[in-house]
Amino acid sequence: MRTNDAQILVLCTLADGPLHGYAINTAIERLSGRSLGAGSLYGALSRLEAKGFVEPLEGPGRRRPVRLTEEGRAVLEREAHAMARVTERVFETAAPDPVAYLDRVAGSGTGRHYKSVMLELLGLASGLSVLDLGCGPGTDLAALAEGVAVTGPGSGSGPGPGSGPGLVSGPVSGTRTAPGPVSGTEAGARETIAPGTVLGIDADEEMVTRARERTAGLGTVEVLHGDAGMLPLGDATADRARTDRVLQHVEDPGTVLAEARRVLRPGGRLVMGEPDWDSLAIDHPDLEISRAYTRHITDRIVRNGVVGRQLARLAADAGFLVPDVVPVTSLFRDVRAADEILGLHRGTERAVAAGYLTEGAARSWLDHLENGDFLAAVTLYVVVAEVPR
Ligand SMILES: C[S@@+](CC[C@H](N)C(=O)[O-])C[C@H]1O[C@@H](n2cnc3c(N)ncnc32)[C@H](O)[C@@H]1O
Repeated sequence: MRTNDAQILVLCTLADGPLHGYAINTAIERLSGRSLGAGSLYGALSRLEAKGFVEPLEGPGRRRPVRLTEEGRAVLEREAHAMARVTERVFETAAPDPVAYLDRVAGSGTGRHYKSVMLELLGLASGLSVLDLGCGPGTDLAALAEGVAVTGPGSGSGPGPGSGPGLVSGPVSGTRTAPGPVSGTEAGARETIAPGTVLGIDADEEMVTRARERTAGLGTVEVLHGDAGMLPLGDATADRARTDRVLQHVEDPGTVLAEARRVLRPGGRLVMGEPDWDSLAIDHPDLEISRAYTRHITDRIVRNGVVGRQLARLAADAGFLVPDVVPVTSLFRDVRAADEILGLHRGTERAVAAGYLTEGAARSWLDHLENGDFLAAVTLYVVVAEVPR
């Protein structure tokens, strides 16, 4: 950059023809929503003139119009192209903030679709209790609360003070069969969950904080910091549970399933939505490059990259009945939309660093994704698991 913000603004306003100082400032206000102080405006003008980017025309004092010189117009065009390159960039190169990323997925067409499938299969009803295991920043807690809300006088549902008093309390009768409560977290004190309420649990403190902020107005929602593999609840105390892209990350999905089986009542239901990253199919003329890219994700990036296809078997092994398996395939025809969810550029860089792709293959891959006809698809499995009655 050879110019600062004030100078660029002045150059922009002169693109269509000469203007004097006051008119320049009016045009800047139209462009940016704020005018410059007199010192900044005339400082910018005199520096631009000294650099030979603008020149004065005939006129009295400050009402003398100025115009762009050829050099000034060339500078303006270069700056405009540089900005266009930034805004038109196809791939996001920096990793997004984790909460912003989860919000982005939830707001995308693909996210809204599979989450609505999961919600329907949960079969929520007034007065049921529900657990969101790995609730993240509280993405789905409000929808769950709405699904189990108890209406009517004295129900205690609807907006209320944030901490969710009375949602869970202890101890309950019955013997714990699972390991004790999560040490060092507040999750330890809980044993039961009240009807018509939602309990979110997440292992990440930042996520718990955000989830609590987002549900502060919901008196029937509580969020605890804890491990989905060691739930702070007694046996057969909850009616519904869900995991949404959580089992792909945990150390042992079988442990989480066993815990969900333990805390759900007979007839209780667990709905899981987990991707199968081996199903990621991205079209490229060289099939081996596509395969290597996908293999890198399942081998190195996601801990349990193929858990989606394993869910039905793992649930059966944990003692659940499995009445429903619903594959939800997301199809992307727009590379920018795909990149926002899949992080294609960052994934490619990591695949090169890990030796799955050569530099040449990566260049060919990204060039085709950016400029060729784009198609990508990946399948997430939604699996319903029920505790036998
Ligand atoms: C991909 S995010 C999904 C969050 C949320 N379910 C959603 O759909 O937006 C996975 C979440 O699982 C949490 N998580 C990972 N391992 C966990 C564990 N063992 N116990 C509880 N939460 C866990 C992470 O902290 C993260 O918030």
